Amino acid sequence: KEVDIDPAAYDAGEHDSFMHKEMLEQPARAEAVLRGRLDERFGTGHLGGLNLDARELRAIRRVKILGCGSAYYVGEMGASLIEELARVPADAEPASEFRYRNPIIEPDTLYVAVSQSGETIDTLLAVQEVRRKGGRVIGLVNVVGSAIAREVDGGIYLHAGPEVAVASTKALTNMYLAFAMLAIQLGRVRDLSIADGRRLIAGLTALPGQIEQVLATEPQLALVAHRLAEAESLFFVGRVRGFPVAREGAQKFKEISYRHAEAYQTSELKHGPLALISPQVPTVAIVPDDELVERNVAALEQIAARGGPLVVVTHEGVDLGDAAAKADRIDVPRSERELDPILLTIPLQVLAYHAALSLGHDIDKPRNLAKSVTVE
Ligand code: G6P
Repeated sequence: KEVDIDPAAYDAGEHDSFMHKEMLEQPARAEAVLRGRLDERFGTGHLGGLNLDARELRAIRRVKILGCGSAYYVGEMGASLIEELARVPADAEPASEFRYRNPIIEPDTLYVAVSQSGETIDTLLAVQEVRRKGGRVIGLVNVVGSAIAREVDGGIYLHAGPEVAVASTKALTNMYLAFAMLAIQLGRVRDLSIADGRRLIAGLTALPGQIEQVLATEPQLALVAHRLAEAESLFFVGRVRGFPVAREGAQKFKEISYRHAEAYQTSELKHGPLALISPQVPTVAIVPDDELVERNVAALEQIAARGGPLVVVTHEGVDLGDAAAKADRIDVPRSERELDPILLTIPLQVLAYHAALSLGHDIDKPRNLAKSVTVE
């Protein structure tokens, strides 16, 4: 079955590509996924489509997230949100791996399938494997009525609108926001306080406007991207919350610029990749102003000392120390700390886009890739 989206059926308007159009739609689409789902009074999410009442939510002992490509990376961001806000063990796994390893399906685990198209064969078959073994699975899906949306026990529609570019932007952002609402709702039937719930709901409400602020820095990001595009090989590094951001950033960059982009935990640099750092190998580092900022800055200094060019995605006011002189700095607005990953992700989309554009690549249809992989 061929369900790959046909760009000819859509209009990119004044944009040179659908990816550009879709990136700029993010503030409006982010509002759409949040609309009607935030309960400011009780500081919680209001996700009616889950089909899980408070008692069922409380009974969940583990969360397992399944997806492919960018949906898997955002699943890792979701797992960290769920662990942090709900203190429920959570992890993400590529759906393609999960379904081939005869997975143990536990009755008190909530399985979450993440898919823009709702048609990715690996994710669909993973859902069917869970259900065949009696597990409960919800979907974070964009396309209404798609195969995965029809198979799951409940879920959260993403309301991102049609996404044409192979490189996912607005759907990915809305996946993140859906995970944030789910994590808050799961947290609020456990130990997340009403004060923290309200703080996070307010943080979510501010995000669409903050995404817009990041997108407004596109001209500066384009200049940085042009320099990055010259490198044959680059690293993306981050830690804990920032690591899935680095993974997604590297994925986007390699997909459309065809440069070798590898993600690493910043903390692991000294255990291998530092050997490769040189003036020819830039590093894009994710350095939010969080508990790990000092350690991250120390790692930047190690990269700078070896002559490695640096692009640092960080918050205003973070002191980059000795690395500052050698780094291109990208400041994103401060959010609630737990919600930092999404604002850190947006500039990486723009960097990948402008790198690919300067290299003259087909942005929307990168070689060898399809928007939805619906056959094995
Ligand atoms: C393909 C695309 C990726 C996408 C993945 C999952 O591999 O090239 O960009 O992230 O499928 O797609 P889905 O529709 O399930 O989110």
